Amino acid sequence: MPAEFDPSKVAIVFVLGGPGSGKGTQCARLVKEYGFVHLSAGDLLREEQSRPDSQYGSMIAEHIRDGKIVPMHVTISLLRNAIEANLKKYDNASRPGWGHGHGRFLIDGFPRKMDQAIEFEESVCSAQFVLFLHCTEEMMLKRLLHRGETSGRIDDNAESIKKRFRTFEETSMPVVDAFRKVGKVAEVDSMRDVDNVYAEIEKVMEAKLIQH
Ligand code: ADP
Ligand code: C5P
Ligand code: MG
Repeated sequence: MPAEFDPSKVAIVFVLGGPGSGKGTQCARLVKEYGFVHLSAGDLLREEQSRPDSQYGSMIAEHIRDGKIVPMHVTISLLRNAIEANLKKYDNASRPGWGHGHGRFLIDGFPRKMDQAIEFEESVCSAQFVLFLHCTEEMMLKRLLHRGETSGRIDDNAESIKKRFRTFEETSMPVVDAFRKVGKVAEVDSMRDVDNVYAEIEKVMEAKLIQH
């Protein structure tokens, strides 16, 4: 069976990087300047977790606290539903890159595990490329502890962060490496300030994003 969405109409960019590398921050800017819809897998999972009649609430909360990857069928169906809803919402809108089945998405924090990558590309939509934000653990730890002062997230504490770093190295980096092998990764150094990182990302978008 072919993938559900046609990549010649639906542009998907995966945004990957360690916890605290700046994915959410940079995606917010890209939304404003390129007309992307930003789908953060983590945000969608947190939303599902707090939905009162969700059957997955406690399972998601446990996985997030321990920095573990939620089983892919849950995350993929949240993403798939969000893609469909946004294509519908903007089908007749005059948003750049949208209308008549066209759209563009930043999928942030996904795929975090090899099975998610394979299943999503086979059954939902193939991605144009992966934007990979590179940052040291030392810097990410500093940023996350600072974010934790106000985020209210159950995983922005030293113990959870340590687990998230381990999952990132063991489970998520192999995904980046697999995309790198097929020439689909654009890497940006995200150690610098937000404006400088964004300037590098803009160059990547100009060079790599295919606008239909
Ligand atoms: P991610 O989505 O990759 O986990 P965020 O975008 O939420 O990361 O950023 C983590 C924290 O670091 C936030 O508090 C954010 O404001 C801050 N931050 C993001 N990018 C930078 C940067 N380039 N320099 C300094 N702080 C940053
Ligand atoms: O990207 P973010 O830091 O918001 O992700 C928070 C948590 O959500 C992850 O540590 C993980 O537990 C879960 N998650 C997941 N699968 C993804 C993205 C996030 O299980 N693809
Ligand atoms: Mg984030």
